[in-house]
Amino acid sequence: MDKFRIIGGRPLEGRVQVSGAKNSALPCMAAALLTAETITLHNAPYVRDIITMRRLLEDLGSTVLVPELRTLKISAHKIELFEAPYDLVKTMRASVLALGPLLARFGQARVSMPGGCAIGQRPIDLHLHGFEKLGARVSLEGGDVVARAERLRGAEVYFDKVTVTGTENLMMAAALAEGMTTLFNAAREPEIVDLADLLNKMGGRIEGAGKSTITIEGVRELGGAEHTIIADRIETGTFIAAAAITGGHLDIVNCSPQHLAAVIDKFRETGVRIDQPNAFSLRVHKADHIGSADVTTLPHPGFPTDMQAQYMALMTMAEGTSIITETIFENRFMHASELLRMGARIRTSGRQAVIDGTGHLMGAKLLASDLRASASLVLAGLAAKGETVIDRVYHIDRGYEKIEEKLRAVGAKIERFR
Ligand code: UD1
Repeated sequence: MDKFRIIGGRPLEGRVQVSGAKNSALPCMAAALLTAETITLHNAPYVRDIITMRRLLEDLGSTVLVPELRTLKISAHKIELFEAPYDLVKTMRASVLALGPLLARFGQARVSMPGGCAIGQRPIDLHLHGFEKLGARVSLEGGDVVARAERLRGAEVYFDKVTVTGTENLMMAAALAEGMTTLFNAAREPEIVDLADLLNKMGGRIEGAGKSTITIEGVRELGGAEHTIIADRIETGTFIAAAAITGGHLDIVNCSPQHLAAVIDKFRETGVRIDQPNAFSLRVHKADHIGSADVTTLPHPGFPTDMQAQYMALMTMAEGTSIITETIFENRFMHASELLRMGARIRTSGRQAVIDGTGHLMGAKLLASDLRASASLVLAGLAAKGETVIDRVYHIDRGYEKIEEKLRAVGAKIERFR
């Protein structure tokens, strides 16, 4: 199993390039199941989850060509299987994104029911309730969710809770349903807008993506399209945190600052100076002093839960006390116990963590528990005195493209070893 060795205490300096958004590329790849024609996606990040989704599409019978790195040409012309098996769903929950497209185009889908994961229970009841509203029959058979329908019919779907992949699954299913679907209390993440853009290029009729009410006029057939995936806002935010926590100076390019307003605002509140030289880049200046600021995670446009762990790492190095409230997932403070081993002062209780910033961390041997927790440990290691070794970095490889190479190029001392 790969590990990272980091020698901390070096300010990062230079220019770093952001990859495409994993959480946008995954639903866009699943959307290719909606048509017999080819979908070409550019700027797909080269990360483990994308390889897993590619395997799922190929197992179903699609062909996926990679004419150049980060471009995928997907053809779901001949689909022979309509299921996402347990071994794929357990390594990547986003496999459930196959449900909506398979059900809508072929009238049947079987997906292993995702269990709990490191950050909480994460049910998919809202996806299933939505499919039922569109006329599907949904049952649980041997641990698998099985959904069937002749042709889905448009309906009004109200989400009790804002769900990102739930909104995406329903948007894809409704795109081929008969008649009009309205999604109320839909997620507003930029990845939803990106998927809607792709579906509309395929001939879909979707309006309101990015707002909490989305309308979808179903069409009989969708066609091929070419699409460029948006920049990864969480990777961007992680680089802002990396500059801030090391007292460095970074130019972050190929990003979309407009997707990160809450994150930029919060970092500025702590004293980090961030400029936006143009629409596609950010400049983080060397900060003399990091102050503390409370934060609450919320659905977009609020502060993203996927930046909470990285923000906590920064707060351990800040002056003063901060409170982090996690409202999206019930068990997302796994990184706190690892940060404690580096000398951080953190108390967690339920959905809150109280961090007394000490201004210093010590290198330690750490275990990564999930994707964003691993990113927070890397940040802590970059700031800590001495050597940090992080085990189980396969978690970080799920969603960050060559993170150690990108960090090394801006002055970090980080290496991968077995
Ligand atoms: C997506 C992101 C993930 C991010 C999360 C929240 C992808 C591939 N993953 O995950 O990185 O952390 O959004 O921004 O895009 N819920 C239910 N029932 C459901 C669905 C969700 O109760 O049917 C709950 C979840 O347990 C959670 C909350 O709703 O408490 C939000 O989850 P959701 O937005 O669905 O997360 P994902 O789409 O799985």
